[in-house]
Amino acid sequence: PKRVRTRHFQNAKQQGIPITGLTSYDMLTAQIFDQAGIDFLLVGDSAGNNVFGYETTLPVTVDELIPLTRAVARAVTRALVVADMPFGTYETGPSEALHTAVRFMKEAQAHAVKLEGGVRSRKQISRIVSAGIPVMAHIGFTPQSEHGLGGHIIQGRGAAADQLMADALAVQEAGAFAVVLEMVPSAVAALVTEKLDIPTIGVGAGPDVDGQLMVWTDFAGMTGGRVPRFVRQYANMRSALTDAVHAFKADVDSGAYPGPEHSYE
Ligand code: KIV
Ligand code: NA
Repeated sequence: PKRVRTRHFQNAKQQGIPITGLTSYDMLTAQIFDQAGIDFLLVGDSAGNNVFGYETTLPVTVDELIPLTRAVARAVTRALVVADMPFGTYETGPSEALHTAVRFMKEAQAHAVKLEGGVRSRKQISRIVSAGIPVMAHIGFTPQSEHGLGGHIIQGRGAAADQLMADALAVQEAGAFAVVLEMVPSAVAALVTEKLDIPTIGVGAGPDVDGQLMVWTDFAGMTGGRVPRFVRQYANMRSALTDAVHAFKADVDSGAYPGPEHSYE
């Protein structure tokens, strides 16, 4: 299949074809999602929660994400692979941001990078884009600033809608090829989507955006406990695996496994 390029995102928006994205942190899920035709795979710093077991994304490092990104990039034949820039690897300025982006492109063969922040990240985005590296922006609720934002709170409500629009225009102006809108009211996401030339990718931003992104462990029911309101669980992998493990253990305990068909003469 022909690889997805950033131009595909632009064409999709113009033609009204929805864009789909999932997070992926390993070769097997990357293969499955790629073969199913998902347009882009995000090696999210949500790996902090879903792979490394941290409570937030804040501790995640570039060194931790690079091997995961490399595995995902090797697995795909079509999907665009986006590497998430961790907290503390771009905030001080454009040079630091470019350095981090180059590491993901060079050491992990990512196809693009993502970083959080609108107006505050415009210089970083612009420097990375100038080096020939596509940038996906991320505004609205930005998990790396959860302490500054005061928790997992919907962004862009009421008067804050103007700030969200300013952030969206800033990242477009800086050269981002797409922008993730996380946890914003549907009506505000719709306004931003109409105003921008670049596609908007919603995560809890309602239906009137150009694409949808989900964290794979959420959408597949792999995560234990509560999932956000915006998640639809398309499978229940956690209970499927739990059942399989119980069955295996019970068979070993009873001697039902292995049978003669699993054994060598
Ligand atoms: O890390 C991640 O999974 C993300 C998406 C939720 C947008 O940044
Ligand atoms: Na992220």
